[in-house]
Amino acid sequence: MSQNDHWTVASRPEAEVQPGNFTMETEETASPADGEFLAEVRWLVVTPPLRMALTSGGISRRPIPIGAKMRSTGLGRVVESRNPDYAVGDLVIGELGWQQFTISKGTGMRKVRPRLDLPESSLLHVLGAGGATAYFGMCEYARPRIGDTLVVSAAAGNVGSLVCQLGRLQGCRVVGIAGSAEKCQWLTKELGCAEAINYKADNVPERLQQACPRGIDIYFDNVGGEILDACLGLIAQGARVVLCGGTSQYNHDLDWYGPKNYFNLVYKQAEMTGFYVFNFSNRFEEAHSRLANLVASGELKYAEDVLEGIERAPEALIRVLTGANFGTQLVKVATH
Ligand SMILES: NC(=O)c1ccc[n+]([C@@H]2O[C@H](COP(=O)([O-])OP(=O)(O)OC[C@H]3O[C@@H](n4cnc5c(N)ncnc54)[C@H](OP(=O)(O)O)[C@@H]3O)[C@@H](O)[C@H]2O)c1
Repeated sequence: MSQNDHWTVASRPEAEVQPGNFTMETEETASPADGEFLAEVRWLVVTPPLRMALTSGGISRRPIPIGAKMRSTGLGRVVESRNPDYAVGDLVIGELGWQQFTISKGTGMRKVRPRLDLPESSLLHVLGAGGATAYFGMCEYARPRIGDTLVVSAAAGNVGSLVCQLGRLQGCRVVGIAGSAEKCQWLTKELGCAEAINYKADNVPERLQQACPRGIDIYFDNVGGEILDACLGLIAQGARVVLCGGTSQYNHDLDWYGPKNYFNLVYKQAEMTGFYVFNFSNRFEEAHSRLANLVASGELKYAEDVLEGIERAPEALIRVLTGANFGTQLVKVATH
């Protein structure tokens, strides 16, 4: 029987996540009981809201207990099964955790099939929750019209980079906000953004004013905080502000920055709506088949940032929370 290297939560971060907030442990890999299967974890996708799972709990409102295994969405392959719905060789996506093997009854798991023309890792971003987030955030809440000015924050990230491109394909003039010159260059040279703002180097309100002379028709918010506030200050009549994420605030637990410019929503008769992608789970196939076709035709690009080995999972989380990642942050767990 093989060993299962896994990470547990050792302590709660005070603000920034530190490597010492986690402990790597090893156990014997368990055998599945009746109704269960054993899956080998192939990939993990490491995303910013995992930070909230360490303290305030985020949308689940339940922080991971100290000493418990660290959560994470991943892609696994069934290697042993005593559950009639799962056969050896099936690929599954779900809460696999920061570990090499997981035992499951199948609750919360989704069986998936890779597209032959795309790498299996794409099931964790453009053909996963990130892709669905960009797709439903745009079609259900942003509702782009030709000629709209669309501003996107964390624009070079997993969700943001897809939103920028979907907006451009639907006729928007897209302004991306990201945290490095290299990311800004990718946005304008490769993804078709009209302008890119480096929020770590530029004066964001000033640059937004230059880049959006007719105001912002759609702001797709991945970060919250001062960038959300600056965008609210520039919304156009009838604007749609789509609240997707608040990455700049996840380290602050319950002490979030409140936007001062929210009353512009009244002046501009605009709307601001939050959404949760898993409310659209029954339509993921629609999103994924459209996105896959766009990738296959070369109209949609994505970037992956891959760290090899389960031992690098904490580093992956620190990277997404500091912007060191370039593209979707993945950990390749299985070596074959
Ligand atoms: N509502 C939903 O259903 C839903 C579903 C999926 C994801 N989300 C949210 O969508 C957002 C994006 O997720 P993702 O998986 O695509 O992650 P991501 O954008 O690939 O990675 C996070 C990025 O956020 C940026 N960032 C980190 N700290 C920041 C700060 N203090 N201020 C501004 N930007 C900062 C970094 O890029 P820079 O280098 O540009 O700083 C980093 O690369 C997250 O907030 C996530 O919680 C929501």
